[in-house]
Amino acid sequence: MDMLITSEEDLDLRLSEPTPGVLAALRGLDSDLLILGVGGKMGPTLARMAARALRDIGSPYTVYGISRFSQPVQREQLEAWGVQTVACDLLDRRAVAALPDSLNLIYMVGQKFGTGADPALTWAINTYVPALVAERYSSARVVVFSTGNVYPLTPVVAGGSQEGDDLGPQGDYAHSCVGRERVFTYFSQRTGLRCALMRLNYAIALRYGVLVDIARRVWVREPVDVTMGAFNAIWQGDANAQALALLSHCAVPPFVLNVTGPETISVRRVAERFGELFNIPVTFTGIETPTALLSNAAKSQYLFGYPGITLPQMIAWTASWVQQGGSFLDKPTHFEARDGKY
Ligand SMILES: NC(=O)c1ccc[n+]([C@@H]2O[C@H](COP(=O)([O-])OP(=O)(O)OC[C@H]3O[C@@H](n4cnc5c(N)ncnc54)[C@H](OP(=O)(O)O)[C@@H]3O)[C@@H](O)[C@H]2O)c1
Repeated sequence: MDMLITSEEDLDLRLSEPTPGVLAALRGLDSDLLILGVGGKMGPTLARMAARALRDIGSPYTVYGISRFSQPVQREQLEAWGVQTVACDLLDRRAVAALPDSLNLIYMVGQKFGTGADPALTWAINTYVPALVAERYSSARVVVFSTGNVYPLTPVVAGGSQEGDDLGPQGDYAHSCVGRERVFTYFSQRTGLRCALMRLNYAIALRYGVLVDIARRVWVREPVDVTMGAFNAIWQGDANAQALALLSHCAVPPFVLNVTGPETISVRRVAERFGELFNIPVTFTGIETPTALLSNAAKSQYLFGYPGITLPQMIAWTASWVQQGGSFLDKPTHFEARDGKY
Protein backbone atom coordinates (compact mmCIF):
# COMPACT_ATOMS: atom_id res chain seq x y z
CA MET A 1 0.00 0.00 0.00
CA ASP A 2 1.00 3.57 -0.60
CA MET A 3 2.06 5.89 2.20
CA LEU A 4 -0.77 7.49 4.16
CA ILE A 5 -1.96 10.96 3.22
CA THR A 6 -1.03 13.37 5.99
CA SER A 7 -1.80 16.85 4.68
CA GLU A 8 -4.28 18.68 2.46
CA GLU A 9 -1.39 19.63 0.19
CA ASP A 10 -0.52 15.97 -0.29
CA LEU A 11 -4.20 15.10 -0.81
CA ASP A 12 -4.69 17.80 -3.46
CA LEU A 13 -1.53 16.67 -5.27
CA ARG A 14 -2.76 13.07 -5.42
CA LEU A 15 -6.25 14.08 -6.52
CA SER A 16 -4.79 16.08 -9.41
CA GLU A 17 -2.12 13.69 -10.75
CA PRO A 18 -2.69 13.41 -14.53
CA THR A 19 -2.82 9.85 -15.91
CA PRO A 20 -1.53 8.79 -19.34
CA GLY A 21 -5.19 8.76 -20.49
CA VAL A 22 -5.59 12.40 -19.46
CA LEU A 23 -2.37 13.42 -21.23
CA ALA A 24 -3.52 11.64 -24.39
CA ALA A 25 -6.98 13.25 -24.32
CA LEU A 26 -5.56 16.73 -23.71
CA ARG A 27 -3.04 16.35 -26.56
CA GLY A 28 -6.14 16.39 -28.78
CA LEU A 29 -7.32 19.73 -27.44
CA ASP A 30 -8.08 22.35 -30.09
CA SER A 31 -8.95 25.26 -27.79
CA ASP A 32 -8.69 26.48 -24.21
CA LEU A 33 -10.48 24.21 -21.73
CA LEU A 34 -13.40 25.63 -19.76
CA ILE A 35 -14.45 24.02 -16.50
CA LEU A 36 -17.91 25.24 -15.54
CA GLY A 37 -18.98 24.86 -11.89
CA VAL A 38 -15.35 24.56 -10.81
CA GLY A 39 -16.04 25.83 -7.27
CA GLY A 40 -17.49 22.62 -5.83
CA LYS A 41 -16.00 19.56 -4.18
CA MET A 42 -14.39 18.10 -7.29
CA GLY A 43 -13.77 21.04 -9.61
CA PRO A 44 -10.60 22.48 -8.06
CA THR A 45 -8.57 19.27 -8.28
CA LEU A 46 -9.99 18.42 -11.72
CA ALA A 47 -8.95 21.86 -12.98
CA ARG A 48 -5.52 21.46 -11.42
CA MET A 49 -5.13 18.03 -13.05
CA ALA A 50 -5.93 19.59 -16.43
CA ALA A 51 -3.48 22.47 -15.81
CA ARG A 52 -0.73 20.04 -14.79
CA ALA A 53 -1.40 17.89 -17.87
CA LEU A 54 -1.28 20.88 -20.24
CA ARG A 55 2.02 21.97 -18.67
CA ASP A 56 3.43 18.43 -18.95
CA ILE A 57 2.62 18.17 -22.66
CA GLY A 58 3.70 21.74 -23.46
CA SER A 59 0.21 22.71 -24.66
CA PRO A 60 -0.44 26.30 -25.74
CA TYR A 61 -3.92 26.20 -24.18
CA THR A 62 -5.21 27.56 -20.88
CA VAL A 63 -7.57 26.05 -18.30
CA TYR A 64 -10.37 28.41 -17.26
CA GLY A 65 -12.29 27.70 -14.05
CA ILE A 66 -15.76 29.26 -13.98
CA SER A 67 -18.08 29.47 -10.95
CA ARG A 68 -19.79 32.00 -8.74
CA PHE A 69 -16.99 31.32 -6.22
CA SER A 70 -19.29 31.31 -3.21
CA GLN A 71 -16.10 30.32 -1.37
CA PRO A 72 -13.57 32.99 -2.52
CA VAL A 73 -10.58 31.12 -1.09
CA GLN A 74 -10.97 28.55 -3.86
CA ARG A 75 -10.36 31.22 -6.45
CA GLU A 76 -6.96 32.13 -5.02
CA GLN A 77 -5.99 28.49 -4.78
CA LEU A 78 -6.99 27.81 -8.40
CA GLU A 79 -5.01 30.81 -9.64
CA ALA A 80 -1.98 29.57 -7.69
CA TRP A 81 -2.41 26.20 -9.43
CA GLY A 82 -2.29 27.81 -12.87
CA VAL A 83 -6.04 27.93 -13.54
CA GLN A 84 -7.44 31.19 -14.86
CA THR A 85 -10.65 31.98 -12.97
CA VAL A 86 -13.77 33.82 -14.09
CA ALA A 87 -16.53 34.60 -11.59
CA CYS A 88 -19.90 34.07 -13.25
CA ASP A 89 -23.44 33.23 -12.22
CA LEU A 90 -24.36 30.89 -15.05
CA LEU A 91 -28.06 31.64 -14.53
CA ASP A 92 -27.32 35.07 -16.03
CA ARG A 93 -27.64 34.82 -19.82
CA ARG A 94 -25.56 37.96 -20.45
CA ALA A 95 -22.77 36.72 -18.20
CA VAL A 96 -22.74 33.40 -20.10
CA ALA A 97 -22.51 35.29 -23.41
CA ALA A 98 -19.42 37.15 -22.11
CA LEU A 99 -17.49 33.99 -21.16
CA PRO A 100 -14.36 33.07 -23.17
CA ASP A 101 -14.95 31.08 -26.36
CA SER A 102 -14.02 27.41 -26.28
CA LEU A 103 -14.49 24.13 -28.12
CA ASN A 104 -13.87 22.00 -25.01
CA LEU A 105 -15.88 22.09 -21.80
CA ILE A 106 -16.19 20.12 -18.60
CA TYR A 107 -19.63 20.84 -17.18
CA MET A 108 -19.78 20.30 -13.39
CA VAL A 109 -22.55 22.74 -12.47
CA GLY A 110 -25.22 21.32 -10.23
CA GLN A 111 -27.31 21.70 -7.13
CA LYS A 112 -28.33 18.84 -4.86
CA PHE A 113 -28.49 20.01 -1.27
CA GLY A 114 -31.09 22.64 -0.50
CA THR A 115 -33.48 21.11 -3.03
CA GLY A 116 -36.10 20.49 -0.31
CA ALA A 117 -36.12 24.18 0.64
CA ASP A 118 -36.00 25.58 -2.91
CA PRO A 119 -36.75 22.99 -5.59
CA ALA A 120 -37.29 25.68 -8.24
CA LEU A 121 -33.67 26.86 -7.89
CA THR A 122 -32.44 23.28 -8.23
CA TRP A 123 -34.45 22.87 -11.44
CA ALA A 124 -33.12 26.18 -12.79
CA ILE A 125 -29.50 25.25 -12.06
CA ASN A 126 -29.83 21.67 -13.29
CA THR A 127 -31.92 22.25 -16.44
CA TYR A 128 -31.96 25.95 -17.40
CA VAL A 129 -28.20 26.53 -17.10
CA PRO A 130 -27.55 23.51 -19.39
CA ALA A 131 -29.75 25.16 -22.04
CA LEU A 132 -27.85 28.47 -21.79
CA VAL A 133 -24.49 26.70 -21.96
CA ALA A 134 -25.50 24.36 -24.80
CA GLU A 135 -26.70 27.36 -26.84
CA ARG A 136 -23.57 29.40 -26.10
CA TYR A 137 -21.15 26.56 -26.96
CA SER A 138 -23.05 24.74 -29.70
CA SER A 139 -19.89 23.64 -31.60
CA ALA A 140 -18.06 22.36 -28.54
CA ARG A 141 -17.32 19.01 -26.97
CA VAL A 142 -18.87 18.90 -23.49
CA VAL A 143 -18.28 16.33 -20.77
CA VAL A 144 -21.38 16.66 -18.60
CA PHE A 145 -21.26 15.48 -15.00
CA SER A 146 -24.43 13.53 -14.27
CA THR A 147 -25.24 11.14 -11.46
CA GLY A 148 -26.20 7.55 -10.71
CA ASN A 149 -29.31 9.07 -9.08
CA VAL A 150 -30.94 9.04 -12.53
CA TYR A 151 -31.46 5.28 -12.01
CA PRO A 152 -33.99 3.61 -9.73
CA LEU A 153 -33.01 1.58 -6.68
CA THR A 154 -32.21 -1.93 -7.92
CA PRO A 155 -31.73 -5.31 -6.22
CA VAL A 156 -28.33 -5.40 -4.54
CA VAL A 157 -27.64 -8.78 -6.16
CA ALA A 158 -28.26 -7.38 -9.68
CA GLY A 159 -24.84 -5.74 -10.02
CA GLY A 160 -26.01 -2.17 -10.63
CA SER A 161 -27.84 -0.28 -13.37
CA GLN A 162 -26.26 -0.21 -16.81
CA GLU A 163 -26.21 2.72 -19.19
CA GLY A 164 -28.99 1.34 -21.41
CA ASP A 165 -31.36 0.56 -18.54
CA ASP A 166 -34.56 2.51 -17.98
CA LEU A 167 -34.12 5.59 -15.84
CA GLY A 168 -36.11 5.85 -12.61
CA PRO A 169 -35.31 9.05 -10.74
CA GLN A 170 -36.80 9.67 -7.32
CA GLY A 171 -37.47 13.16 -6.03
CA ASP A 172 -36.82 16.63 -7.43
CA TYR A 173 -33.02 16.43 -7.46
CA ALA A 174 -32.84 13.17 -9.41
CA HIS A 175 -35.60 14.25 -11.82
CA SER A 176 -33.80 17.52 -12.48
CA CYS A 177 -30.59 15.54 -13.20
CA VAL A 178 -32.48 13.55 -15.84
CA GLY A 179 -33.56 16.98 -17.09
CA ARG A 180 -29.90 18.07 -17.30
CA GLU A 181 -29.12 15.02 -19.45
CA ARG A 182 -32.22 15.50 -21.62
CA VAL A 183 -31.52 19.19 -22.27
CA PHE A 184 -27.94 18.45 -23.37
CA THR A 185 -29.24 15.55 -25.50
CA TYR A 186 -31.81 17.83 -27.13
CA PHE A 187 -29.15 20.39 -28.08
CA SER A 188 -26.85 17.63 -29.25
CA GLN A 189 -29.56 16.38 -31.62
CA ARG A 190 -30.47 19.90 -32.72
CA THR A 191 -27.13 21.62 -33.11
CA GLY A 192 -24.57 18.84 -33.25
CA LEU A 193 -23.15 19.59 -29.79
CA ARG A 194 -20.86 16.68 -28.94
CA CYS A 195 -21.47 15.36 -25.43
CA ALA A 196 -20.48 12.71 -22.94
CA LEU A 197 -22.87 12.17 -20.05
CA MET A 198 -20.87 10.93 -17.07
CA ARG A 199 -23.11 9.26 -14.48
CA LEU A 200 -20.97 9.40 -11.39
CA ASN A 201 -21.62 7.93 -8.04
CA TYR A 202 -19.84 8.72 -4.94
CA ALA A 203 -16.47 10.26 -5.37
CA ILE A 204 -14.19 9.69 -2.36
CA ALA A 205 -11.74 12.38 -1.32
CA LEU A 206 -11.14 12.12 2.47
CA ARG A 207 -12.63 15.57 3.10
CA TYR A 208 -16.04 14.23 2.09
CA GLY A 209 -17.67 11.11 0.64
CA VAL A 210 -19.52 8.02 1.77
CA LEU A 211 -16.45 6.41 3.36
CA VAL A 212 -15.80 9.49 5.49
CA ASP A 213 -19.50 9.66 6.43
CA ILE A 214 -19.36 6.08 7.70
CA ALA A 215 -15.91 6.38 9.31
CA ARG A 216 -16.84 9.52 11.25
CA ARG A 217 -19.96 7.85 12.66
CA VAL A 218 -17.90 4.94 13.85
CA TRP A 219 -15.25 7.30 15.26
CA VAL A 220 -17.80 9.23 17.37
CA ARG A 221 -19.49 5.95 18.38
CA GLU A 222 -22.80 6.75 16.69
CA PRO A 223 -24.82 3.92 15.13
CA VAL A 224 -24.45 3.37 11.39
CA ASP A 225 -27.73 3.11 9.45
CA VAL A 226 -27.60 0.09 7.14
CA THR A 227 -31.07 0.48 5.59
CA MET A 228 -29.35 1.55 2.34
CA GLY A 229 -27.06 -1.44 2.66
CA ALA A 230 -24.73 -1.02 -0.32
CA PHE A 231 -23.10 1.67 -2.44
CA ASN A 232 -20.45 2.28 -5.11
CA ALA A 233 -17.45 4.56 -4.74
CA ILE A 234 -14.47 5.79 -6.74
CA TRP A 235 -11.38 7.79 -5.76
CA GLN A 236 -11.95 11.39 -6.80
CA GLY A 237 -8.61 11.45 -8.65
CA ASP A 238 -9.76 8.50 -10.79
CA ALA A 239 -13.12 10.17 -11.44
CA ASN A 240 -11.35 13.42 -12.41
CA ALA A 241 -9.09 11.50 -14.80
CA GLN A 242 -12.01 9.69 -16.45
CA ALA A 243 -13.89 12.98 -16.86
CA LEU A 244 -10.96 14.56 -18.72
CA ALA A 245 -10.36 11.42 -20.79
CA LEU A 246 -14.04 11.52 -21.81
CA LEU A 247 -13.29 14.61 -23.91
CA SER A 248 -12.10 12.14 -26.55
CA HIS A 249 -15.45 10.32 -26.50
CA CYS A 250 -17.91 13.20 -26.88
CA ALA A 251 -20.39 12.36 -29.61
CA VAL A 252 -23.76 12.94 -31.22
CA PRO A 253 -25.98 11.51 -29.77
CA PRO A 254 -24.27 11.82 -26.38
CA PHE A 255 -21.98 9.05 -25.19
CA VAL A 256 -23.26 7.80 -21.82
CA LEU A 257 -20.96 6.31 -19.19
CA ASN A 258 -21.35 5.17 -15.59
CA VAL A 259 -18.27 6.16 -13.61
CA THR A 260 -17.67 4.46 -10.28
CA GLY A 261 -15.67 1.66 -8.73
CA PRO A 262 -16.08 -2.04 -9.54
CA GLU A 263 -17.41 -3.18 -6.15
CA THR A 264 -20.89 -3.34 -4.67
CA ILE A 265 -19.71 -2.19 -1.24
CA SER A 266 -21.45 -3.32 1.96
CA VAL A 267 -22.11 -0.45 4.39
CA ARG A 268 -22.03 -2.90 7.30
CA ARG A 269 -18.73 -4.48 6.26
CA VAL A 270 -17.05 -1.12 5.72
CA ALA A 271 -18.27 0.13 9.12
CA GLU A 272 -16.92 -3.02 10.75
CA ARG A 273 -13.58 -2.49 9.03
CA PHE A 274 -13.38 1.08 10.37
CA GLY A 275 -14.27 -0.33 13.80
CA GLU A 276 -11.33 -2.76 13.55
CA LEU A 277 -8.94 -0.02 12.41
CA PHE A 278 -10.08 2.36 15.18
CA ASN A 279 -10.46 -0.40 17.77
CA ILE A 280 -13.98 0.88 18.44
CA PRO A 281 -17.07 -1.33 18.70
CA VAL A 282 -19.58 -0.54 15.95
CA THR A 283 -23.35 -0.29 16.41
CA PHE A 284 -25.99 -0.31 13.69
CA THR A 285 -29.56 0.85 13.13
CA GLY A 286 -32.05 -0.50 10.60
CA ILE A 287 -31.76 -3.62 8.54
CA GLU A 288 -30.52 -3.88 4.98
CA THR A 289 -33.24 -3.51 2.36
CA PRO A 290 -32.96 -5.71 -0.73
CA THR A 291 -32.49 -2.70 -3.06
CA ALA A 292 -29.95 0.12 -3.24
CA LEU A 293 -28.76 2.90 -5.56
CA LEU A 294 -26.10 1.10 -7.58
CA SER A 295 -24.44 1.55 -10.97
CA ASN A 296 -22.58 -0.98 -13.06
CA ALA A 297 -19.32 0.57 -14.27
CA ALA A 298 -18.17 -2.31 -16.51
CA LYS A 299 -18.27 -0.11 -19.61
CA SER A 300 -15.97 2.54 -18.08
CA GLN A 301 -13.59 -0.17 -16.86
CA TYR A 302 -13.51 -1.70 -20.33
CA LEU A 303 -12.66 1.74 -21.70
CA PHE A 304 -10.25 3.09 -19.06
CA GLY A 305 -9.23 0.04 -16.99
CA TYR A 306 -9.87 -0.39 -13.28
CA PRO A 307 -9.53 2.73 -11.13
CA GLY A 308 -5.93 3.31 -9.99
CA ILE A 309 -6.85 3.53 -6.30
CA THR A 310 -8.44 0.44 -4.76
CA LEU A 311 -11.19 0.25 -2.13
CA PRO A 312 -8.86 -1.08 0.61
CA GLN A 313 -6.50 1.81 -0.10
CA MET A 314 -9.35 4.36 0.14
CA ILE A 315 -10.48 2.78 3.42
CA ALA A 316 -6.96 2.92 4.88
CA TRP A 317 -6.49 6.56 3.82
CA THR A 318 -9.94 7.52 5.17
CA ALA A 319 -9.32 5.81 8.52
CA SER A 320 -6.00 7.56 9.05
CA TRP A 321 -7.45 10.91 7.92
CA VAL A 322 -10.22 10.63 10.52
CA GLN A 323 -7.78 9.47 13.21
CA GLN A 324 -5.38 12.34 12.57
CA GLY A 325 -8.25 14.89 12.68
CA GLY A 326 -7.93 15.87 9.01
CA SER A 327 -10.15 18.66 7.71
CA PHE A 328 -13.67 17.94 6.47
CA LEU A 329 -16.05 19.86 4.22
CA ASP A 330 -18.95 18.84 6.46
CA LYS A 331 -21.01 18.10 3.38
CA PRO A 332 -22.49 14.67 4.13
CA THR A 333 -23.51 12.70 1.04
CA HIS A 334 -26.85 11.58 2.53
CA PHE A 335 -26.25 8.29 0.76
CA GLU A 336 -28.74 6.75 3.22
CA ALA A 337 -31.65 8.68 1.65
CA ARG A 338 -34.01 6.25 -0.07
CA ASP A 339 -36.72 8.78 -0.93
CA GLY A 340 -34.63 11.10 -3.14
CA LYS A 341 -35.15 14.02 -0.72
CA TYR A 342 -32.05 16.21 -0.20
N1 LIG B 1 -19.22 14.37 -5.72
C1 LIG B 1 -19.91 13.29 -6.02
O1 LIG B 1 -19.72 12.22 -5.43
C2 LIG B 1 -20.93 13.34 -7.13
C3 LIG B 1 -21.73 12.22 -7.33
C4 LIG B 1 -22.66 12.26 -8.36
C5 LIG B 1 -22.77 13.35 -9.17
N2 LIG B 1 -21.98 14.44 -8.95
C6 LIG B 1 -22.15 15.59 -9.84
O2 LIG B 1 -20.91 16.01 -10.32
C7 LIG B 1 -20.83 17.43 -10.38
C8 LIG B 1 -19.60 17.90 -9.65
O3 LIG B 1 -19.59 17.32 -8.35
P1 LIG B 1 -19.25 18.16 -7.05
O4 LIG B 1 -19.33 17.21 -5.93
O5 LIG B 1 -18.01 18.96 -7.28
O6 LIG B 1 -20.53 19.13 -7.03
P2 LIG B 1 -20.75 20.44 -6.16
O7 LIG B 1 -19.87 20.43 -4.95
O8 LIG B 1 -22.22 20.60 -5.96
O9 LIG B 1 -20.23 21.58 -7.14
C9 LIG B 1 -20.97 22.12 -8.17
C10 LIG B 1 -20.64 23.59 -8.23
O10 LIG B 1 -21.38 24.21 -9.27
C11 LIG B 1 -21.31 25.61 -9.02
N3 LIG B 1 -22.56 26.27 -9.39
C12 LIG B 1 -23.82 25.99 -8.98
N4 LIG B 1 -24.67 26.89 -9.47
C13 LIG B 1 -23.94 27.75 -10.24
C14 LIG B 1 -24.26 28.91 -10.99
N5 LIG B 1 -25.52 29.37 -11.06
N6 LIG B 1 -23.28 29.54 -11.64
C15 LIG B 1 -21.99 29.10 -11.55
N7 LIG B 1 -21.63 28.02 -10.86
C16 LIG B 1 -22.60 27.35 -10.19
C17 LIG B 1 -21.15 25.78 -7.48
O11 LIG B 1 -19.95 26.49 -7.19
P3 LIG B 1 -20.06 28.07 -6.83
O12 LIG B 1 -20.84 28.15 -5.55
O13 LIG B 1 -18.66 28.53 -6.71
O14 LIG B 1 -20.78 28.71 -7.96
C18 LIG B 1 -21.05 24.35 -6.99
O15 LIG B 1 -20.16 24.24 -5.92
C19 LIG B 1 -22.15 17.96 -9.78
O16 LIG B 1 -22.97 18.40 -10.83
C20 LIG B 1 -22.76 16.76 -9.10
O17 LIG B 1 -24.18 16.75 -9.25
C21 LIG B 1 -21.07 14.45 -7.95
